[in-house]
Amino acid sequence: MATTRQMKLTAFCHPPGHWRMPGARPTDMGFEDNVHLAQTAERGKFDMLFYQDSAAVAPVFYLSGGNAETLAESARCVRLEPLTMLAALATVTKHIGLVATATTTYNDPFSIARKFATIDHISKGRAGWNLVTSQNVDEAQNFSRDSHLDHALRYQRAQEFYDVVTGLWDSWDDDAVIRDRETGRYIDPAGLHVLNHKGDHFSVRGPLNVARPPQGYPIIAQAGSSDPGRELAARTADVVFTAQVDIGEARSFYADVKGRMAKYGRAPDDLKIMPGIRFVLGQTESEAKERYEMMVSSASDDGALASIQRLAGDLDLKQFPLDGPLPDLPPSNAAKARQVMMIELARRENLSIRKLARRFAFSLGHMVYVGTAKGLADQMEEWFTAGVCDGFTMLSPYFPIPLELFVDTVVPELQRRGLFRTEYEGTTLRENLGVPFRSSRYT
Ligand SMILES: Cc1cc2nc3c(=O)[nH]c(=O)nc-3n(C[C@H](O)[C@H](O)[C@H](O)COP(=O)(O)O)c2cc1C
Repeated sequence: MATTRQMKLTAFCHPPGHWRMPGARPTDMGFEDNVHLAQTAERGKFDMLFYQDSAAVAPVFYLSGGNAETLAESARCVRLEPLTMLAALATVTKHIGLVATATTTYNDPFSIARKFATIDHISKGRAGWNLVTSQNVDEAQNFSRDSHLDHALRYQRAQEFYDVVTGLWDSWDDDAVIRDRETGRYIDPAGLHVLNHKGDHFSVRGPLNVARPPQGYPIIAQAGSSDPGRELAARTADVVFTAQVDIGEARSFYADVKGRMAKYGRAPDDLKIMPGIRFVLGQTESEAKERYEMMVSSASDDGALASIQRLAGDLDLKQFPLDGPLPDLPPSNAAKARQVMMIELARRENLSIRKLARRFAFSLGHMVYVGTAKGLADQMEEWFTAGVCDGFTMLSPYFPIPLELFVDTVVPELQRRGLFRTEYEGTTLRENLGVPFRSSRYT
């Protein structure tokens, strides 16, 4: 039965994940594997492919005090720079949106505006920027700072960063590049706007030396769930990535973020909220459970603990009995909302430190589904029709087999139920997501 409202889907790309699983092909080096991944997601009519990122070797090595064995088992140390990857993937895909993280804390707005505008042109309107403020001191130390900027300051800088980037994207009117052979006029000077921005964090004259992006602005995604993160999303974002494990909490998050939009003159539907699902599929539930157990048991205690160390406010959890409860944690300067969620999960399910660490190492903090394609479609339908999300971010535990299984079994089931598209609706990412073109502030 066809419904008018259909869910949006993102394929989440991250370092290799459970690379020891049979058939796993890590995507951290080979371009061909990333092409296969993008084309598989496009075959499944996904709205977009999203590369998460941080500009540092993941903290696991430093946090383990340089423990070589923990480093040896970490599959998160090397990766390809994602904006370069998006540009390359734009040439071998036609429909799928291409989204990557770039931090506002360790970048300059001019470079970011220029790069995403370029990717939007190369892909003919399929680019997206996941605007994050970074979580780790490891990044700070690669960018001439000793410590990570304070959470509140990071978000103030992010707000101004967004204003400058979008101001630069408005440098030229949509029709300012005229290339009129008859008159010899390449540019219409009336279509030029110089930003002349001077603020607390940035001083940027402009204009940008790239024409206005095909989508007006590339898609803006936001993934912070703290109060300033939600406010930034309500003001700026087209897409929100979020980790939600409880349908009730997902409902209040959804209502809260959408409820903040009206004061910025935005309609609730202009923003798509897409919680993550870490999924493990099998022909039967027991086959899926067996695969899940293989993955969860493959990490060592040290490796699993390292994955939650930042969220534990950098408290060394090894000093506590690992089969005992989670102690009180100092506040985290990394991901405030995620820390609260982790503490609540431990309390709700009465998880020991060891079990919590293993769960988080696998789930990355997201909802986990282990079972059959039909069961996963049921769960997605339940959340979607309950009105607690606009779609989902699918976190394949490794590549490419689980994503291929999703595309070949879950997507047709969702399509059969009328919950997901059978063809792309438009040519740009904005059109497919159903979010408005962003007009220039000068029109
Ligand atoms: C699905 C998802 C993807 C994320 N991707 C990144 C990323 O690529 N890089 C990054 O630094 N942070 C990433 N984050 C973290 C958030 O951007 C944010 O920094 C973090 O949640 C802390 O913000 P908060 O304190 O506002 O919650 C991601 C979060 C989620 C839920």
